Amino acid sequence: MFSKAILPLALLAASASALSPPVKRATCSGGQTTANEACCVWFDVLDDIQENLFDGGDCGDEAHESLRLIFHDAIAFSPALTAAGKFGGGGADGSIMAHSDVEMQYAANNGLDDIIEAQRPFALKHNVSFGDFIQFAGAVGSANCNGGPQIQFFAGRSNDSQPAPDGLVPLPTDSVTDILNRVGDAGFSAVELVWMLVSHTVAAQDTVDSSIPGTPFDSTPKDFDAQFFVETMLNGTLTPGSSLQPGEVLSPYPGEFRLQSDALIGRDSRTACEWQKMIADRANMLQKFEQTVLKLSLLGFDQSTLTDCSDVIPTATGTVADPFLPAGKSMSDIEAACSATPFPSLSAVPGPETSIPPV
Ligand code: HEM
Repeated sequence: MFSKAILPLALLAASASALSPPVKRATCSGGQTTANEACCVWFDVLDDIQENLFDGGDCGDEAHESLRLIFHDAIAFSPALTAAGKFGGGGADGSIMAHSDVEMQYAANNGLDDIIEAQRPFALKHNVSFGDFIQFAGAVGSANCNGGPQIQFFAGRSNDSQPAPDGLVPLPTDSVTDILNRVGDAGFSAVELVWMLVSHTVAAQDTVDSSIPGTPFDSTPKDFDAQFFVETMLNGTLTPGSSLQPGEVLSPYPGEFRLQSDALIGRDSRTACEWQKMIADRANMLQKFEQTVLKLSLLGFDQSTLTDCSDVIPTATGTVADPFLPAGKSMSDIEAACSATPFPSLSAVPGPETSIPPV
């Protein structure tokens, strides 16, 4: 029996331990510690993919494509279809890899076959589900980029899935209204669409204009900076390839590619102010991106049934520059579209207009 003097102390200790962070409980065979023993396998996956998928921890093509794959697997989730009595997709269930024979036929998934085939052997070798692997590789690949995000990772998705229906992944030719309706059906608001599109700061295209593969969406495709949000708002003046393709609009300077959807979302009254906000506050940009990608990764799943293995995801290193105008541009080249707040004032880097090398 507790005496009157001991009881408050015991309560205090109990409430302090409820507030303190979870104690690391498991030591894995490689000596790493993690909150849950079930996460140990992910340290092996991490070492393997950093070395053999991401070229020693690079923020290159495979890292970019792995981040894109997160979206294309997860967003194929439609409560509207389910309500209409049809199969609405299983969200982040790995169906894009399990049923790549079907889902690679969909126009919106163009170009993802290489990364799916590059990832698949790692998932099979380590005996983890495709859904988990896709989310893990996306989080690790993003952390390889300079100043990258710390995306949380939950493991435990089953490997059972059905092919997602076609038409659930937005296309760059879609109108803003169609894109908002589509992501809205999956549970995302207009501002959350903008937050997800932070991903396009480490992105390039290979298939919209296949004659110029590796043409990036901003001048710093290895940096998780805000340049994508700045450079999409510059007046478009040239075609990077030989002619404009469906889903492409004029870009601001040589070597840069602009998707029609990005150009429109940056200028639409429903999204333009949030777009601009991404430039003004990078810490906020990263935090909103992390929050929204976590939400994407849980589509179709109940978080409480999964295991939090976030402590396996490496912390990004590297620094990124504050937002700037590319050399040769001035504030008069910016097509500001938010009527509520002025566009952040930026300085141009010195020197003649340069062209960006492909990634
Ligand atoms: C409105 C929604 C979106 C549209 C229409 C869209 C469209 C595209 C297109 C057409 C490409 C070029 C693909 C290629 O030719 O190789 C691309 C690249 C990319 N997208 Fe998106 N995207 C959207 C949203 C997202 C989201 C939410 C993410 C991630 C969370 C994402 C991540 C990426 C990445 C990382 C790349 C670069 C891939 C690479 O460099 O190989 N996208 N996107």
